[in-house]
Amino acid sequence: MNSDSELSSSVIRGVGSYLPEKNVDNIELSKRVDTSDEWITSRTGIKARRIAEKEQATSDLALEAASAALVDAGMSPRDIDLVVVATITPDMAFPSTACLLQDKLGIPKVCCFDIEAACSGFLYALDVADGMLSSNRYKCALVVGAEKLSSIMDWQDRTTCVLFGDGAGAAVLTNKGDGLKILGFKSGADGSNPKLLHQPSGGSLDPASQESLAGRGHFLKMNGREIFKSAVRVMERAAREILSEHGYKESDIDHVIPHQANARIVESLSQRLGIPLGKFYCNLDKYGNTSAASIPIALDEARRISVVQKGQLGLMVAFGAGLTWSAVLVRF
Ligand code: ACO
Repeated sequence: MNSDSELSSSVIRGVGSYLPEKNVDNIELSKRVDTSDEWITSRTGIKARRIAEKEQATSDLALEAASAALVDAGMSPRDIDLVVVATITPDMAFPSTACLLQDKLGIPKVCCFDIEAACSGFLYALDVADGMLSSNRYKCALVVGAEKLSSIMDWQDRTTCVLFGDGAGAAVLTNKGDGLKILGFKSGADGSNPKLLHQPSGGSLDPASQESLAGRGHFLKMNGREIFKSAVRVMERAAREILSEHGYKESDIDHVIPHQANARIVESLSQRLGIPLGKFYCNLDKYGNTSAASIPIALDEARRISVVQKGQLGLMVAFGAGLTWSAVLVRF
């Protein structure tokens, strides 16, 4: 089976992204943290990241990206009847960032909620929105990946704080019309080892207290080596599964838009899948890992600079804390 028309579900009508203005490159970071441009570049490929202003919350980043996506789609906030925001850095535990975004953007009183699947969040949110649109009870979804990761970074932990950045990306989805066609999803999770990548404190297990603050438990903690190995393994498997389910070969893929975590992870994935590195779109050198925002930011950039052409076959693939993963096949 490889006829797109048999498989097609929803259509991405417009895409937008937003990166905060403040650019912090490795040289500047190495004045604040015991690290070096050489270490960060050689281990990760990251050269710089954007950091949001203190008064900017995740919903503010989402607002900019969503507004740009609506302009790209030629639609207005009044057209939206579903809002899904993927984030691990919501403005607050509740209400959801999606509800805050609804109000800021002037979207009607429609269904709004957040999804938390870390760096796979945007693809998970697309998967859920696609399913809701296919029920025909919703017609036009705004799907956003937005993160202010600087708010959960431990700037005393050089093993994590050099990797992440802030930003947002958004897509407007309908179940018909012209645009980037979604062909299928392969999403999964393995919750058996949550401590590989987590934020231990501030939830019901370890609510905020003097002790949790002293233990720096409100910051992101990661076992980088194990995450690295798992990331390559789960993304390879998800990519192979979705291609074979839809009757395509690795060589049919024109472009891969991977989660932008680490250049070495992307290189390993390229080798294991046998898809040339030149087909992978990467901008992690400029923005670092923006978690749920990384794929929509890269997708928006790749479209704007005409890296991807109408009619080409694309694969978006991500992994994140959970562990979660997702692969999405698209026709540009
Ligand atoms: N600057 C200088 N030295 C450092 C830094 C730094 N920023 N960070 C660690 N080091 C040192 C360590 O202390 C260690 O020193 P030692 O040998 O004296 O003990 C040495 O460098 C090697 O450390 P490792 O952790 O073994 O380095 P590694 O080569 O594994 O690279 C890295 C670390 C970059 C984190 C890598 O493991 C990685 O990219 N993992 C995947 C991370 C990832 O993708 N996370 C995102 C998940 S997505 C989500 O859901 C949020």
